[in-house]
Amino acid sequence: MATTTLSPRARAVRSSVAMKALMAVTGLIMIGFLLMHMYGNLKVFLGAEAFDHYAHWLKGDILYPLIPSGWFIWIFRAFMLAAIVLHAASAVHLWRKANAARGSSYVTTNRLQQSYAARTMRWGGVILVGFLVFHLLQFTAQVIKTGWNSGAGPYEMFVVSFQQWWLVLAYALWMVAVCMHIRHGFWSAAATLGANTSLASRRVWNGLAYCVAVLLYVGFMIAPLAVLFGVVK
Ligand code: HEM
Repeated sequence: MATTTLSPRARAVRSSVAMKALMAVTGLIMIGFLLMHMYGNLKVFLGAEAFDHYAHWLKGDILYPLIPSGWFIWIFRAFMLAAIVLHAASAVHLWRKANAARGSSYVTTNRLQQSYAARTMRWGGVILVGFLVFHLLQFTAQVIKTGWNSGAGPYEMFVVSFQQWWLVLAYALWMVAVCMHIRHGFWSAAATLGANTSLASRRVWNGLAYCVAVLLYVGFMIAPLAVLFGVVK
């Protein structure tokens, strides 16, 4: 039986393509999560009962009795954690490869040739994860209490937090980093998965990338701003 042995260069190209595909798929999974999260946050406009009920449901009986009560959230968290880890690992792999291919990263012309978006993807990603840790310590682990007392429900935590302008500002800045990352990432993912076929298709996917980023920015920030300006109390 004939066996085909790939040259080291062909193997390197194949592994880069696989890494890019992994980064694209895990990125799209996270965008899907963010769209759901954004939609869920808008329930704050329906009042305390609706928002607390929704938060309770998320941690309770989804898929019960198919799986035991309370399990869904942990399966979902494990799945999202795997997506984040794989996304970051493929980014680091591709980053290292690009640096190695460029030879010395001190060559200034190479740095200049890098697009603004590509550079902000890396540091944007790091800032994004840094604030995510704060976000989870604040709302999920509830270790950082931004104005509320122990025992406060999800609605109370939300409202008390965003009555403070500095926190709304911090979230507004974080969301700029998140949405810039998503604008470029969505477009890159579409290109990796085969959308980069013609000028017309490039225009459509690029337009769609802007729409998703703007939708997420407005959809996420509208509730904290409504709290800050007293529309939601
Ligand atoms: C203005 C923007 C945002 C607001 C106001 C917000 C608000 C919240 C709130 C209130 C919770 C707690 C829900 C609950 O446990 O009842 C939560 C959880 C969470 N948020 Fe956000 N969020 C925002 C943006 C983001 C972004 C951009 C990400 C990801 C990059 C994110 C990731 C998460 C995760 C992973 C959880 C934990 C879900 C779980 O319990 O497993 N959030 N968020």
